[in-house]
Amino acid sequence: MEKLVTQIFLCSFFTILVLHFCPALSDEVEDESEFNYEQGSEKGPDRWGEIRPEWSTCSNGTLQSPIDLLDKRVEVISHLEITKRNYKPSNATLKNRGHDIMLKWNSGEAGYIEINGTQYLIQQCHWHSPSEHTINGNKFDLELHAVHQTPTGQTFVFGILYQFGEPDPFLSSVEDYLEEISDTGEEIIVVIDPNKIKIGSQRYYNYIGSLTTPPCTENVVWIVASEIRTVSREQVSLLRVAVHDDSDTNARPIQETNGRTVKLFRDDKVDEED
Ligand SMILES: *[C@@H]1O[C@H](CO)[C@@H](O)[C@H](O)[C@H]1NC(C)=O
Ligand SMILES: *[C@@H]1O[C@H](CO)[C@@H](O)[C@H](O)[C@H]1NC(C)=O
Ligand SMILES: *[C@@H]1O[C@H](CO)[C@@H](O)[C@H](O)[C@H]1NC(C)=O
Repeated sequence: MEKLVTQIFLCSFFTILVLHFCPALSDEVEDESEFNYEQGSEKGPDRWGEIRPEWSTCSNGTLQSPIDLLDKRVEVISHLEITKRNYKPSNATLKNRGHDIMLKWNSGEAGYIEINGTQYLIQQCHWHSPSEHTINGNKFDLELHAVHQTPTGQTFVFGILYQFGEPDPFLSSVEDYLEEISDTGEEIIVVIDPNKIKIGSQRYYNYIGSLTTPPCTENVVWIVASEIRTVSREQVSLLRVAVHDDSDTNARPIQETNGRTVKLFRDDKVDEED
């Protein structure tokens, strides 16, 4: 992959104007300074719902994420179809949101994934460390969230879990840029191919949840791959260093399942060359 454009946004004033005048309630907030991940702190995960009225779902919602994906509880199905991933390389903004690093494509330009006949356009991806979802109570070292949306606003997030080991090729492809924003504190625009995100095995958990950061909007379709991929310690610490956040976590604690079913399905049609 080549860096076709490296554009430094010098004018934060413009960014503030855009954020101020184009609020999208269902989107994750882009300025994360209003909340944090310190348990027991005034801005911590237990209090997110009290910080702003429009974040109340974080406290009183009943379909919150992340959850523990418990194999005992899953309902095995076979007919969910990820028929195709139709992603393409496209310009994306790599930015530090305060607690995480986000790679944001222009809506619709980087293609879509089709699930059960619905096309979800890829919007952005970001990373949490350690992982937010757990499997049978086990936490992992990193979790990638690839956030998608339909034109009508249905959100779908693909979650991929990693444990320490060999470097992750997708993170390797953005490493140089991560170092750059870490040094300059600015955001940059680079061409990134979402096909480099490997979605793993053909077994996936599927349930209805929420965004894991304020405003914690619900009715998000979640798919979490059951295969645990690997990431190097250096890559995870690069992500941490780039956010300039003193905290050692940006993972929201596990939320109540409230009787939700988690489906486990196989898909034999996913084609991806490794
Ligand atoms: C949560 O609380 C807010 C504010 O009190 C209210 O508007 C909203 O309907 C509540 N949501 C649920 C799911 O109870
Ligand atoms: C896909 O369809 C199956 C069968 O109707 C359903 O159980 C599953 O939840 C759907 N999944 C998604 C992500 O739409
Ligand atoms: C990225 O943006 C530049 C400048 O707008 C444009 O010339 C280029 O074609 C874009 N590249 C891709 C892959 O979309």
